[in-house]
Amino acid sequence: MTVSNNKKKPIIIGVTGGSGSGKTTVSRAIFEQLKGHSLLMIEEDSYYNDQSNVSFEERVKTNYDHPNAFDTDLLVSQINELLNWKSIEKPIYDYKQHTRSQETVTVEPKEVIILEGIMVLNDPRLRDLMDIKIFVDTDDDIRIIRRIQRDMEERGRSLQSVIDQYLATVKPMYHQFIEPTKRYADIIVPEGGQNQVAIDLLVTKVRDILRNNKK
Ligand code: C5P
Repeated sequence: MTVSNNKKKPIIIGVTGGSGSGKTTVSRAIFEQLKGHSLLMIEEDSYYNDQSNVSFEERVKTNYDHPNAFDTDLLVSQINELLNWKSIEKPIYDYKQHTRSQETVTVEPKEVIILEGIMVLNDPRLRDLMDIKIFVDTDDDIRIIRRIQRDMEERGRSLQSVIDQYLATVKPMYHQFIEPTKRYADIIVPEGGQNQVAIDLLVTKVRDILRNNKK
């Protein structure tokens, strides 16, 4: 697809996997190796529904591992804007308050866009926009350990709340909605960020596409 100003469309790389799988590590590793190109990372988490009109007690009880927890319409429309080389006002999400903050951040389009999140391969509208689809596949025990550490250190959660949420929603929703999207992936990366061979292969492929775009 080309756009009106004759620039080739940006490349979209979708990176998914369960919570704690290492999606962010893989995305950052790809980013690191592509330094010198114009790059952008979009986290699907920024597009959790605005719940500012819902009480804190209700927000705590929300199932954040269901596709309906996300404002995917907004995500699709903003990715389309970026594909047309237009800037967007990206929402900012606050995990401690469980809702979107009042502010947004202006994000400029870039040559390579990594779209990372638990549901990015779930919606066909997003899948259709992607040039490369990656599923990071990491064992459940590793993922829960990472999640406990991160949620307690960075997201203001207690150990008991992380365990309760994991058993009530995170685990069942993973098997219902996330794990099945593996079938849409071009590449399944075992053990995420530690898999240097997979990352090298991916970077080579992206460089290839970029080179062809310049022809
Ligand atoms: O970064 P990660 O992929 O782990 O982010 C997704 C996770 O964030 C989901 O599994 C969801 O349970 C969690 N989440 C949460 N509280 C929120 C929003 C998301 O625990 N308010």
